[in-house]
Amino acid sequence: MAEQRVFAKPEELAQAVAVLTIQALGAAVERSGTATWVLAGGSTPAAAYRLLAQEQGALPWDRLNVLMGDERCVAVDHPDSNWGQAAAALLDHVPVDGNRLLVPEGTLPPDEAAARYAAALAQVPTDAAGLPRLDHVWLGVGEDGHTLSLFPGLEAVEVTDRLVAGVHNSPKPPPERLTLTLRALRGAQDCLIIAAGAGKAEVIARALRGDVKLPVARAAQAVEEAGGRVTWLLDEAAAAHIG
Ligand code: 6PG
Repeated sequence: MAEQRVFAKPEELAQAVAVLTIQALGAAVERSGTATWVLAGGSTPAAAYRLLAQEQGALPWDRLNVLMGDERCVAVDHPDSNWGQAAAALLDHVPVDGNRLLVPEGTLPPDEAAARYAAALAQVPTDAAGLPRLDHVWLGVGEDGHTLSLFPGLEAVEVTDRLVAGVHNSPKPPPERLTLTLRALRGAQDCLIIAAGAGKAEVIARALRGDVKLPVARAAQAVEEAGGRVTWLLDEAAAAHIG
């Protein structure tokens, strides 16, 4: 059963995300020499990224393979770029190894960008099932229960034969994206689902009840079914409807 932790203040939520991330990635590097971290897009992770940017010595940054869980099909310097936002808040401020940064090629059309990102994942160590081992994964949650760019009812949610899918009709602009799939999430070892704000309360409660109409519930299920650990990190507003 996934752990749920609820925080009164946004800064407490961000601090918990940062502490758990340092612990998880540090342990993974201890075990294997490197660790793979999947970043989340959207606005919620920004405060945690900024806290981690102040932790130069807390992690062997140059041993981290860094991915973005989903990306909008825009250039990295476009204000909508998830990678661009994470770089500005964190990656440009810590001593990561540029050869270990898997930057999505957002200027390509969705399906081509997705195929090239899937090919780039070959650089990531695999788990016993042959999937990229995603040591630590951050997932955000949309008010419709989407996560990554897996939106309710869209075909990317049901992709089972690929690690990365193109999205052409995201209801959340911009419409064109690439996203890890539920198949890729089966390689997640440790996953933080991070949500804040009253707008998420209804879908968080439904997802925690296992409502598989919500992609975030399917994502948690995919991680746990494959043996990974899921921790829900919420502020009080997002947790308000939990029974
Ligand atoms: C994206 C994100 C998306 C995000 C949620 C939550 O590209 O939009 O990857 O999945 O995590 O929509 O976004 P907020 O954190 O801004 O609420």
